[in-house]
Amino acid sequence: MKKVILLLSLLCNSNVNAEAIEVLHWWTAKGELEAQRILEKMLLEQNIEWNNFAIVGEGGESAVRVLQLRALSGNPPDAAQIKGPDIGEWAKIGMLEEIKQITDTSLWQQKLPQIVRESVTFDGEYMAVPVNVHRVNWLWLNKAIFDKLDLPVPATWDSFFAVADKIKAAGYIPLAHGGSVWQDASLFESVALSILGGEKYKQAFVEHNEAVLTSPEMIRVFKLFKRLHKYTDSNMLGKDWHEASQLISDNKAAMQFMGDWAKGMWHAQGKQPMVDYICTDVPESKGLFSYNIDSFVFFEKNSSAAHQKTQTVFAEMLLSEKFQVAFNLAKGSIPVTNAIEIGQFDSCAQKSFADFNNAELVPSFTSNLASTSHLRNIMIKIISNYFNNPDADAQRTVKSLSLAIRAINK
Ligand code: GAL
Repeated sequence: MKKVILLLSLLCNSNVNAEAIEVLHWWTAKGELEAQRILEKMLLEQNIEWNNFAIVGEGGESAVRVLQLRALSGNPPDAAQIKGPDIGEWAKIGMLEEIKQITDTSLWQQKLPQIVRESVTFDGEYMAVPVNVHRVNWLWLNKAIFDKLDLPVPATWDSFFAVADKIKAAGYIPLAHGGSVWQDASLFESVALSILGGEKYKQAFVEHNEAVLTSPEMIRVFKLFKRLHKYTDSNMLGKDWHEASQLISDNKAAMQFMGDWAKGMWHAQGKQPMVDYICTDVPESKGLFSYNIDSFVFFEKNSSAAHQKTQTVFAEMLLSEKFQVAFNLAKGSIPVTNAIEIGQFDSCAQKSFADFNNAELVPSFTSNLASTSHLRNIMIKIISNYFNNPDADAQRTVKSLSLAIRAINK
């Protein structure tokens, strides 16, 4: 009997007729992986098989390179995690499906906030499906260490440095930070937004205004950024962001500047916000929100009815309430649709949601939301070199940065 039941269940669940969809992404850390599996499972429920094309590497730099190689050789995947102005680069060369050919986008205007819509629009057309809104400018605190040392939540940079000194004196790592180009630059971005404010941040990193890029305030940004270096742990050179977040989980480090995908990882480990860790604004950043919106593009490659159907099911599922809730709870982000009851999310997500709707929003340039990855990759290298070279000079660095931006934008 048992055998018969097993056979029946195998037959029912068999995916011999399932359509497959190959998707490139870089969600490989704990938390990211759980979120990706939710996506995979929900697709399978609709008889669509997830063909995993995951490229490890924080911030997606390697994934985008591999995608370029695959696309150039005429064999792109079916879909890929591409965001911000890079969507336009792919659309320009005519490789992407217009989303309105895949699904009815007539309700997007009502359903999705303007910033979200803009992030997936190129030349007036939707070219990607958005899935989440991450906040980048967070400061995370390890609650046990802060309680033990009786430290205040640092709201100013003075208070931050005072707290960091005490943590160091007590034998903990003040700042969980993996030494990699993208993490260095993300840290810089949070400092820059805090010191410059939203308007000047946009003038510098979206409009590339030379006067702002080389201003005395920008030099201040670089100098403050450099002061953070001595609070990091030199053993973390070359480590990924989640390895740094693990130091917070293990009560070894007390603070981390990171986007809320780190919360996704702690969620997967069963850690609770405000019990195990605290989420707070980067010092002197109240009312400022740097956003990172993940989205999927579809490559134009196969016009069979079955393939079209798979794309439609995939796109529609991404914006369904069921998916938006389950995925974003795991990912650490907030839903892209306004209609979802945020009360079912944790308090950090609720703060993110409130700020996303009320704060001044700026695109995260280190997350590829402000420029193409070509420019962004060069900018983040200059920033990281400055951070890691004790002799590097802030004045000279702002000049190189603005020169590099000018050269690429020509
Ligand atoms: C970002 C991506 C996020 C997050 C992060 C770290 O580029 O948008 O979803 O996972 O990388 O991997």
